[in-house]
Amino acid sequence: MVQATAFLLVLFLALGAHGLSVKKCSLTGRWVNDLGSNMTIRTVNANGDFSGSYHTAVTATSNEIKLSPLQGSLQKGPNQKGQPTFGFTVNWSFSDAITVFTGQCFVDDDGKEVLKTMWLLRSHMENIKNDWKATRTGTNVFTRLQSQE
Ligand code: BTN
Repeated sequence: MVQATAFLLVLFLALGAHGLSVKKCSLTGRWVNDLGSNMTIRTVNANGDFSGSYHTAVTATSNEIKLSPLQGSLQKGPNQKGQPTFGFTVNWSFSDAITVFTGQCFVDDDGKEVLKTMWLLRSHMENIKNDWKATRTGTNVFTRLQSQE
């Protein structure tokens, strides 16, 4: 009986320690993607809502690139296990387009946080006949920008 209790105690402590040591992926902070675009995500609130800013490295337009706002939502369900899914919208300040991103915040095998995303970029068309060419799609991978302390 004493042995069984001791065994369960050790098992409980081991599982607890493992649970504490598993790194979680957090969206808050500064990120850079494979195109060289930069993004800052401010605090995620209790509902999972967040805002931030996006500086794209590229544009489908000939306009001068400007810092643009983003609004997003993090999935807060019980099965996210520290690697949550999320979505956000960038409302471009310098063009008539909108981009929606959807993705998941992972911790990779080296313990590094990475955002794997897919996006839809909707450009504005003057005529419904051009709707067929209005939407581009692609993927972006974001890694955390280390602060320069
Ligand atoms: C536009 O060209 O009208 C607005 C800028 C779009 C930039 C796109 S959004 C998807 C892709 N990922 C980036 O970081 N930039 C491009």
